[in-house]
Amino acid sequence: MNIRIAEGDIAERVRSIVAGLRSLEGPLLPILHEIQDAFGYVPQAALPVIADELNISRAEVHGVVTFYHDYRDHPAGRHVLRLCRAEACQSMGGAALAERIKALLGIDFHQTTPDGSVTLEPVYCLGLCACAPSAMFDGEVYGRLDDELAAELVEEARR
Ligand code: FES
Repeated sequence: MNIRIAEGDIAERVRSIVAGLRSLEGPLLPILHEIQDAFGYVPQAALPVIADELNISRAEVHGVVTFYHDYRDHPAGRHVLRLCRAEACQSMGGAALAERIKALLGIDFHQTTPDGSVTLEPVYCLGLCACAPSAMFDGEVYGRLDDELAAELVEEARR
């Protein structure tokens, strides 16, 4: 369930997260992780607050958020399906399989189905290269992904 959070509440929560982590060396990544854990994504409204608090530019914060594929800019669906887009998986048919999964779900990467059931995300190596192509479904990894297993995961995600 996605709950709309007021910008003021976001700012207050973000300030408190920054306060707890700012003394770390290189605090930006841990702060972004904590924010994503807290909200399920990194709200746009959090970026200027982080920049002000860390005394860095908004462009710098925005650059880091968009560089790392782990950060979402919108709330995720009830399930998250991550497909590996790195080389070993691509060489084992991962790209074509990803196209078929996108068609099954009716969404592209970084999107959530309109019923809020599934978010599809790319991931760059799950450490399962020997069992390529690989995927992660709600934190659990799956190797040797084929059409049959992909259809099962999509069906489970839709429940
Ligand atoms: S390249 Fe896909 S798991 Fe390593």
